[in-house]
Amino acid sequence: MSDWIDICALGEIEEEDVHRFEHGGAVYLAARDDCDGVFVVDGLCTHEKVELANGFVFGCVLECPRHQGRFDLRDGRPCGGPVTEGLKTYPTRVQAGRVQVQLIA
Ligand code: FES
Repeated sequence: MSDWIDICALGEIEEEDVHRFEHGGAVYLAARDDCDGVFVVDGLCTHEKVELANGFVFGCVLECPRHQGRFDLRDGRPCGGPVTEGLKTYPTRVQAGRVQVQLIA
């Protein structure tokens, strides 16, 4: 099992907002929903590889800023066109007020 990687303080991510970060040359997002859920997903849209950091969060849905494709943050599945491929999601936890992730390949 991979080690937990420290991302940021939970307080650095507003409710229904995202925190962009890079690791190993790849882009990721840590996102909060409207119910204290915290999720880490790939940071590029599966449609045209646009950065999702400028997207919007509504409840547990992340909307791409380019064509408004939507993903469910809980499992990455597409839930609004034109995206058809889901986002990869990663095991995420909050420990002592810090957001941590396992970036499993
Ligand atoms: S680039 Fe994200 S929906 Fe098209």
